[in-house]
Amino acid sequence: MSKVVLITGASSGIGKSIGEFLHTKGFVVYGTSRNPERITNSIFPLLTLDVRNKESIHKAVAEVIEKSGRLDVVINNAGVGITGPIEEIPTEEIINNFETNLFGPIEVMKAVLPSMRMQKLGLIINISSIAGYMGLPYRGIYSASKGALELITEALRMEVKSFGIHITNVAPGDFATNIAAGRYHAPLIKGSPYEIPYGVTLNSMNNHVDSGSNPNEMAVAIYEIIQTSNPKGHYKIGAFMQKFSIVLKRIVPDKVYEKMLMKHYKI
Ligand SMILES: NC(=O)c1ccc[n+]([C@@H]2O[C@H](COP(=O)([O-])OP(=O)(O)OC[C@H]3O[C@@H](n4cnc5c(N)ncnc54)[C@H](OP(=O)(O)O)[C@@H]3O)[C@@H](O)[C@H]2O)c1
Repeated sequence: MSKVVLITGASSGIGKSIGEFLHTKGFVVYGTSRNPERITNSIFPLLTLDVRNKESIHKAVAEVIEKSGRLDVVINNAGVGITGPIEEIPTEEIINNFETNLFGPIEVMKAVLPSMRMQKLGLIINISSIAGYMGLPYRGIYSASKGALELITEALRMEVKSFGIHITNVAPGDFATNIAAGRYHAPLIKGSPYEIPYGVTLNSMNNHVDSGSNPNEMAVAIYEIIQTSNPKGHYKIGAFMQKFSIVLKRIVPDKVYEKMLMKHYKI
């Protein structure tokens, strides 16, 4: 029997690539978008879902279960970027980012766990980020939202193991998607002391995403994880140096690591 998969944020980038790949592999794929009517080229159905709206999450999950009878795999992929000097990012934008990148995925998990417990089977894949393993300058809020998602996943994994449910984190490095275009960029306050270093860092992070890997690489990795009977807690997918930056943080002294990051971002 084909597995039924729900992917949040499948209108572009990584979510779209995963959906297309799983669809061609014979999975029953449902994706989501906040505005599915705007997407005319999806090869799998797109349901309306905004992770900041609990009702829309429950409605989409109910629709999948009603149409397909069950839900085997959920990919918590929807997410947005945010950049800026922490001192100058409006608090409401910080909350907005956490609502999309952290509280939303938690709500999605809460919505799907009851049916997965009843089935005694299920897999939840949370798309975090390599940026969630370290506090990156001018991306601290994004790092924090993704780092928190990693920890929630670790905890929940143990809570639901006995129900036959697997949960895992997949942290991408840089992939060429719409994420840079859709990011919230804090407007600098006139005369901001952060103007120059923030500008230099922003340039470098945008270049990294634009020259990032093809999101199809993520799709293949996710497919392989779905085929694994007992997935690990954490996967990192990306260029060698991006993955190695996590290892480096563990092995070099804090101050050396900080210097390396500052040099990398030219600040
Ligand atoms: N690209 C990278 O380099 C990279 C690196 C690390 C982690 N990631 C993570 O990978 C995931 C996918 O990002 P991407 O790079 O593929 O970016 P993307 O091309 O901008 O796609 C983001 C997706 O999220 C959806 N979305 C945004 N806000 C939403 C909300 N409030 N509710 C529901 N859906 C929402 C968008 O759909 P609609 O606009 O149609 O609603 C879109 O389909 C994100 O969690 C991101 O943080 C990406």
